[in-house]
Amino acid sequence: MCGIIGCVGRDDTLGTLVHGLSKLEYRGYDSAGVALGGETLGVLKRAGELGALRDALEGGPDLSGSVGIGHTRWSTHGPPTDENAHPHLDCAGSVAVVHNGIIENYQKLRDELSDAGHEFESDTDTEVVPHLIEAGLESGADPETAFRAAIDRLEGSFAIACLVAGRESVFVARNDSPLVLGIDGDATYLASDVPAFREFTDRVVYLDDGEFAELSAGGWQVTDADGAPVEKSIETVAWDPEDTGKSGYDHFMLKEIHEQPRALRQCLRGRVDELGGTVSVEELGDLDFDRIHLVAAGTSYHAAVYGAGLLSAEGISAQAHYAHEYASSPPPIEDATVVGVSQSGETADTLAATREARRRGAGTLALTNTVGSTMARECDDAFYIRSGPEIGVAATKTFAGQQTALNLLTQVVADGTPDRDLVSALRDLPGDVQTILDESNAEAVAEAYLDAEAYFFIGRGLNFPVALEGALKMKEISYEHAEGFAAGELKHGPLALVTANTPVFATVVGDGELARKTVGNVKEVEARDAPVVAVTDGRSDADRYADHTLEIPETDPRTAAILANVQLQLASYHTAAKLGRSIDKPRNLAKSVTVE
Ligand code: F6R
Repeated sequence: MCGIIGCVGRDDTLGTLVHGLSKLEYRGYDSAGVALGGETLGVLKRAGELGALRDALEGGPDLSGSVGIGHTRWSTHGPPTDENAHPHLDCAGSVAVVHNGIIENYQKLRDELSDAGHEFESDTDTEVVPHLIEAGLESGADPETAFRAAIDRLEGSFAIACLVAGRESVFVARNDSPLVLGIDGDATYLASDVPAFREFTDRVVYLDDGEFAELSAGGWQVTDADGAPVEKSIETVAWDPEDTGKSGYDHFMLKEIHEQPRALRQCLRGRVDELGGTVSVEELGDLDFDRIHLVAAGTSYHAAVYGAGLLSAEGISAQAHYAHEYASSPPPIEDATVVGVSQSGETADTLAATREARRRGAGTLALTNTVGSTMARECDDAFYIRSGPEIGVAATKTFAGQQTALNLLTQVVADGTPDRDLVSALRDLPGDVQTILDESNAEAVAEAYLDAEAYFFIGRGLNFPVALEGALKMKEISYEHAEGFAAGELKHGPLALVTANTPVFATVVGDGELARKTVGNVKEVEARDAPVVAVTDGRSDADRYADHTLEIPETDPRTAAILANVQLQLASYHTAAKLGRSIDKPRNLAKSVTVE
């Protein structure tokens, strides 16, 4: 998992590359580097975040050229060092390569190249690529042929961009890793993701697996594995370049939490007819939804658990599975339709699960935020949550988007008349989220428990995945110990962990049976002196036992679980901010996990 960028035809090649890398840092921030080309190549790369490269560029070598490539790394082979940073070079320094993915047969290739006299400087799998190209050039091949021959030797996943000294082009190849071209008059870009060049153009071409491209001053050409030209359509992306900046917020995460009303409006637009009380999703095609397996990882898995709860309540057989487990030991698939829930659409674990489902003949649906992502293109149909780009590593608005989209999916696939209560709750949802954002006291709650030993989250029914998600958010950005439990499970073991220094966040919605039982669990922890934070609509007596209350507006229980999560996002955010954590780029994590 890394980000790559390239450009041709810009006046300021270096500035364009560094700008693009700043937009791709969410894909990895272990090191960064650039190479600029022309008659000779100039390369600079540094371990650490992009700032380290920027510092090195100031007063460093004068890098110029009309073509360039760049890379931001999340380590897979070898630690984050200058040597392991991309671009990687051949022995002569005339081939530079950046790569996102994993070359599975690199050790065999490396041994073969070493035997032939090639010397390696890094621990990476990528470094075999420039050496393979060099070997091709030495045997008399022209740059394009040498590039294709090298790619032909690779097994694994890759989005690769390459410069060869003396040729004012960028060579590109894709297999199993995202790669998109940006088209802008005389300038052409390539990147792992659109925000890298979105400031310059909204016209894009998505490359497919097995395709190659050459970008040069004369334009761009996509070809297939045999070198035959491929006609590609140019699409227009709707995202506003403003969307990729922080717009005055301290962190992308906070900005994205605050973008939720807009993101949810986008998700609902054209799909919910408030007057007629109907729900329709045109992307859903002809898939059969009698039995559904939802596959996902991390936050998206929590959305999948929530979705399975919604569907089951409508009498539809639905189960949520961790994608990594599903891919290696799938349950009987028979006539199930498999829904990959993934904001990025690039998560290797989830792709492996949807691919396994396809291999077994199941219908597949990608429920994703990323148009043109690998999952969206591989599945039979793609249902977009329309949250807009999410840069903070911690998923926030995309989780709310997934929950909302899963409500729409449930309504569409459930037999019977549309549920007017839900339609009206969905209509109110963006406004209800806004009310929470305007009135939340989550910052004061965070302040009260900064010295906590651990944070626990409990909920029942649709609020069980909310408890899991509340805990995941807290642990990933605050680095504090946090766990989420089904409220009924507490007394079966976890209650032993509860002390006066472990606040318990309990989501209690409505005044029915689930609320009554959850209040019972609240009393259990209160009796053990644990502070209680009730996330509640005030319809039960949960706040009687609570030290703090995080209020949510009264609504349908299905959308209440979306609202409760917004309060928990804010509690985690403020805890992490007060502890001075690296919120947008938590340690050891990256946004899009493209390795299994
Ligand atoms: C946590 C988070 C991750 C992702 C997981 C799956 O905040 O973002 O747990 O949810 O890596 O990613 P996607 O949804 O892109 O498949």
